[in-house]
Amino acid sequence: MSILVTGGAGFIGSNFVLDWLAQSDEAVVTLDALTYAGNRENLASLEGDARHHFVHGDIGDRALLDRLLAEHKPRALVHFAAESHVDRSIHAPGAFIKTNVEGTFTLLEAARAYWSAMADKDSFRFLHVSTDEVYGSLSPDAPAFTEQHAFEPNSPYSASKAASDHLVRAWHHTYGLPVLTTNCSNNYGPYHFPEKLIPLVIVNALAGKPLPIYGDGQQVRDWLYVKDHCSAIRRVLDGGRLGETYNVGGWNEKTNLTIVHTICELLDELRPSPEGSYKRLITHVKDRPGHDRRYAIDARKLERELGWRPAETFETGIRKTVAWYLEHQDWVTRVQSGAYRDWVAKQYQ
Ligand code: NAD
Ligand code: TYD
Repeated sequence: MSILVTGGAGFIGSNFVLDWLAQSDEAVVTLDALTYAGNRENLASLEGDARHHFVHGDIGDRALLDRLLAEHKPRALVHFAAESHVDRSIHAPGAFIKTNVEGTFTLLEAARAYWSAMADKDSFRFLHVSTDEVYGSLSPDAPAFTEQHAFEPNSPYSASKAASDHLVRAWHHTYGLPVLTTNCSNNYGPYHFPEKLIPLVIVNALAGKPLPIYGDGQQVRDWLYVKDHCSAIRRVLDGGRLGETYNVGGWNEKTNLTIVHTICELLDELRPSPEGSYKRLITHVKDRPGHDRRYAIDARKLERELGWRPAETFETGIRKTVAWYLEHQDWVTRVQSGAYRDWVAKQYQ
């Protein structure tokens, strides 16, 4: 038995693969195109582990998908691969349409062909990993997003993810493909690429660089420790009802300014700077165009139906995260300089 994981060299995908193989002997085939966000070094601890098979390739490559599915015969496909950064989607949306929309379409078609020919069709699952950003932006006193909330995506990123969610839904309703979708809030934790708020602030603070806050910093995000997202995906894969979507979140709404203050305070405690509090580096910069004001996830369906609960509070998760970055500054250095590509080449060629 095996599962096929797309995007398994990225932030959440690599945490998922590592956690999966720490808890199960079921093999994992990781398919990843190794874009700037994909880093095989994240999976280095699995080198030589017979349960893990890494394939460098694109989800848009139908021939490759057909070959992998025929060869490995996975019982499930967990789909993380995507372009994931909102700021990049504003400057260059094309790659988001290509991977998130067209790539998901190609994957669905390959999965449909594979599943149609399976003897035991009931055993297969296609789990699509998506985001709360498809629901758009909430006003300050609106209730958190439930699964019934209308899709109102505002960025090229969220629009491309919303489109992929719709495709997944349609492949279930039209063809009967056994799909599950998760819509999760903002993640943070180990291996987070330092272009996103939390790792960027940790890394810049340690380097004495400005901590850029877009606009007034009062935008709200709902933060979940990445390992809790991974446990939710495992739970949905095991027991989710086919064709259903499950919101994933930990009820941790925070303004961006609060997040940055919290990180500065942790660094002040764990790695004090002779120049004083890291808060001195906070710099307000121009706002992101079309910046969503607030996201908040109502995860009660997942809690009620599948008994899932996050293991970390924001306070425990952010402390672990800051500690991880302090202990892995060599990883950060290689990612920032682009040397992770050389590192990977040396290890794997
Ligand atoms: P990431 O950008 O860190 O990783 C994406 C991975 O996909 C990379 O390894 C990249 O190389 C790979 N990839 C990109 N294009 C590919 C292609 N065409 N073929 C094969 N592989 C390709 O992203 P992430 O933060 O780990 O997010 C993973 C998934 O979770 C995405 O679908 C994202 O929308 C979703 N999600 C992310 C968050 C979050 O806070 N990061 C929250 C909710 C949902
Ligand atoms: P980000 O980590 O890019 O995730 P997303 O846009 O998917 O929510 O950004 C989180 C929040 O932090 C978002 O409101 C934008 C803001 N932000 C900053 O204020 N400064 C920054 O340098 C970055 C990268 C983000």
